[in-house]
Amino acid sequence: MSNKRPLVETSLTDPIALVSARLGPWLSQRAGGGDIDAVVRPSDHADAQINGALPLAKQLGCNPRDLATEIVDSGQLADLCSETEVAGPGFINVTFSNSVINSLLTEVANDEHLGLRQASNARTVVVDYSAPNVAKEMHVGHLRSTVIGDALVRMYTAAGHRVIRENHIGDWGRPFGMLIEHLLDLGEEVAASGLGQGDLDSFYKAANAKFSESEEFQERSRQRVVLLQGGDEETHVLWNRLVAMSTEYFNTVYEQLGVLLVDDDLMGESKYQPLMPETLARLEASGLMSESEGAKVVFPPGFTNRDGDPLPLIVQARTGGFNYATSDLACVIDRVERLHADLMLYVIGAPQQQHLEMVFAVANMAGWMPDGVSAIHVAFGNVLGDDKKMLRSRSGESVKLVDLLSEAVERAASAVEEKNPSLSDSERADVAQMIGIGAVKYADLSTDRVRDYVFDWDRMLAFDGNTSPYLQYAHARIRSIFRRAADDQVSAGAIAVHEAAERALGLRLLSYPAAVADALESNSPHRLCTYLFELAQLFTAFYEHCPVMKSEGDIRASRLALCDLTARTLSAGLDLLGIDAPEQM
Ligand code: ARG
Repeated sequence: MSNKRPLVETSLTDPIALVSARLGPWLSQRAGGGDIDAVVRPSDHADAQINGALPLAKQLGCNPRDLATEIVDSGQLADLCSETEVAGPGFINVTFSNSVINSLLTEVANDEHLGLRQASNARTVVVDYSAPNVAKEMHVGHLRSTVIGDALVRMYTAAGHRVIRENHIGDWGRPFGMLIEHLLDLGEEVAASGLGQGDLDSFYKAANAKFSESEEFQERSRQRVVLLQGGDEETHVLWNRLVAMSTEYFNTVYEQLGVLLVDDDLMGESKYQPLMPETLARLEASGLMSESEGAKVVFPPGFTNRDGDPLPLIVQARTGGFNYATSDLACVIDRVERLHADLMLYVIGAPQQQHLEMVFAVANMAGWMPDGVSAIHVAFGNVLGDDKKMLRSRSGESVKLVDLLSEAVERAASAVEEKNPSLSDSERADVAQMIGIGAVKYADLSTDRVRDYVFDWDRMLAFDGNTSPYLQYAHARIRSIFRRAADDQVSAGAIAVHEAAERALGLRLLSYPAAVADALESNSPHRLCTYLFELAQLFTAFYEHCPVMKSEGDIRASRLALCDLTARTLSAGLDLLGIDAPEQM
């Protein structure tokens, strides 16, 4: 039903979409019914290329070139295109007429959403992202999840969907017995001075070390887990402190990163505890559950271990405890039945692929994911160091995110100092924050998320190439043109493209909604990055060939309008990625 509709509503200001919409009914009539896609794509040889004649000719058993000619002769494209040419085996190369480009650009310039339309069938999208673990350092994997997830949240929201953020922190399970006992041993103040300050790893390691050394501590820890799971009040107070200290620290990272996550989005594993017994009961009732070596398990078909034996999803350990899989199953029930999710995105590293596939398979078998509901693992690769191995700090520990982010800002500050010494201290601090954090985020978002990428300070902070500083600089440069224009008391006016560089820039501005759609449909923010990078490059070419402030009258007014629309598009696009665009830098 509803989810056949595109995630991003077809743009009314993109000439490619207009040609497609125009030809659809004609082609369908020609085919004697059915939905026929005209397959209109951007092209290097013309403004766009219509490829739909080829498959349709095959279907109808006629000559594709003849059919292409018939399409051209139908007159359907006459008011949109100034040139149409049948080429090759039956493609149609089209050139949009300048008057169409001008009026579409004017429409977009007057639209606060820049041509991006709100979904007419808004879906409820639950985005599971960030999800660090209590009393453990957030690692770069959590950085990736946080940055990618946040960009997706912004994009779905901009497309008009109802988005629910969920931060599925690891705040439950066996280690909490030992963590609480360690908290008691240390005393709260001492614990707070470590944990609260973000020294999570030493706390965890110390607890772990004690656990392996002392039987007495092991015993206490075990009893503590029982108390925790049994709902003992004092234990819950202690557990709450532990969680609060960690989430406070996570919040400092989120603030530094400028992501949308807030305390209300916390939906840790513990939140699903009350639903666990029911989850198990439902599995039992549907006859899916079996026993394997004393544990309660489900065997989803198609999953095997190394020996080729069926692989179980363990939902209750032999000891009676629930685990990560059980909480993820309860989580599916909660998202579908309480939140009415249509789409569930899990922004989690690639190594958890099998876990999620098994959870989704079991949820499907149990009938918890009705038609029209889908779950997608938005997987991502690793962050690597110079040595192409997992990124580690010099001492070999996992890198602390706060340190990484402050280093980004420091490095950006010296770059800005060099580029623009005239900024005041506070201006420089603001700009450095936007550039440093933007650089880290963009480096992460601009490569295809499933691939690994090398964390390279020099590359991500470079002012040229596909980087955030390059895009931010293009934006700031345009804003500076307007500061001059204001001094000269000239302003933007009606858009009229003439030069090739103006047309190329104008056309790319019109494809902003298509770029967002493209990124959303595959949950791939890097596609939006590529669009913005190409837009900035087209702007640079335009700015070289078409003087703005040195031209006059209507031409200057039109070029200023193109400048303004470019700056707004860059800023809006960066905003969807969670990156600020400074006015000057
Ligand atoms: N806390 C987990 C980790 O650090 C990630 C949880 C992701 N979300 C989920 N629903 N499993 O690996």
